[in-house]
Amino acid sequence: MRDKSQCRICGGALHEFVDFGRQPMANAYLEPSRFATEFFYRLAVGMCDSCTMVQLIDEVPNERMFHKDYPYSSSGSTVMRAHFESLAHRFVERELQGPGKFIVEIGSNDGIMLNVIAKNGLRHLGVEPCDNLAKVAAANGVRVLNRYFDESSAAEIVAAHGRADVIFAANTVSHISRIDSVLRGVDRLLSDSGVFVFEDPYFLDIVDGTSFDQIYDEHIYFFTARSVAAMAARHGFELVDTEHLPVHGGEVRYTLARPGARTPARAIGEMLERERGRHLTETATLEAFAASVARCREELVALLRDLRGRGKRIVGYGATAKSATMMNYCGIGPDLVSYVCDNTPAKQGLYTPGTHVPIRPPEAFREGGADYALLLAWNHADEIMKKEAEFREAGGRWILYVPQARVV
Ligand code: TMP
Ligand code: ZN
Repeated sequence: MRDKSQCRICGGALHEFVDFGRQPMANAYLEPSRFATEFFYRLAVGMCDSCTMVQLIDEVPNERMFHKDYPYSSSGSTVMRAHFESLAHRFVERELQGPGKFIVEIGSNDGIMLNVIAKNGLRHLGVEPCDNLAKVAAANGVRVLNRYFDESSAAEIVAAHGRADVIFAANTVSHISRIDSVLRGVDRLLSDSGVFVFEDPYFLDIVDGTSFDQIYDEHIYFFTARSVAAMAARHGFELVDTEHLPVHGGEVRYTLARPGARTPARAIGEMLERERGRHLTETATLEAFAASVARCREELVALLRDLRGRGKRIVGYGATAKSATMMNYCGIGPDLVSYVCDNTPAKQGLYTPGTHVPIRPPEAFREGGADYALLLAWNHADEIMKKEAEFREAGGRWILYVPQARVV
């Protein structure tokens, strides 16, 4: 059993700075027959005093989270589709130029990125533990190994295909508690001149945007350039590039290589400098974040109660994993939000975890009847507000809740 007071990366002491109390698993949408036996854990976050890695204190076992019924599919958003397609083209034009180049994606989801690589006729392999997603990717012409990525699956891949020139992972590395096993796998699989590229939510953006709902069971780590550079060095890699991304409320794409294989980009120094200037590792900064989170809850709950008190009908838009933290932390159930609409068929007809609000298709929303829509998928605000322009034209109003609760 892991000692909860210790950093998973370096064994240093964890300093807890925010606690969301009892929470369900964020992607565990359920039927009423399972309300009584729903699984809960304590959601709290700490920073390592030694390597500065921000991480959950308690965790849910991976096997409980990522399985054949995992409901999240990356292709639900046109913006995310464009994001991954443009990255795939970049790999094709740069890292994968030349004969026999090979790319592996860890957590390939529904094949949104590798699909482009496959269409270009390049050697590739997705490694995806969720059977349902692996099947969707395979049906789209993507080659997939239905497994968790670790040292042993990496060794099998090397034996079958040789070493990889690119290893990529989006919103996956931060989900894996045993990052050491991933990095040992990368060490086995990556060619001498290859790159390991991964993108995940950026802790500085979470602090600056009070986007506390990025914190849920699946996000075990919250990276910064500083903590990733330290982690890379511990495992014999070097951080050679960082790129700030606008998706999912603010992410960073990190590139790791073997020491000396690549010239580190200037962007790294600039990002480290920004993190230092923002005093990200200081207790006062972390405490101020926790205070902003508490204020956000108070203001949002007051706003929703006031609207309900005046007889307004409020619905949620986007049954996001993120919103599980927010709704449970704020105690927002069907008394405040009548239903949540979402375009993912696997979520429709089920109920939100912990708070048990029914999930309906977007058509329910378009039928009308809502005065206010709480935008739970706020990271897709532009796309959704454009798509649902008629709601506002008919007098409806959107409610946003980060960095603070407001009607727009
Ligand atoms: P995400 O924020 O983790 O990407 O999840 C977004 C959720 O919102 C996902 O369940 C799909 C849903 N969604 C819609 O219902 N309509 C939309 O237009 C978009 C972009 C997402
Ligand atoms: Zn540490």
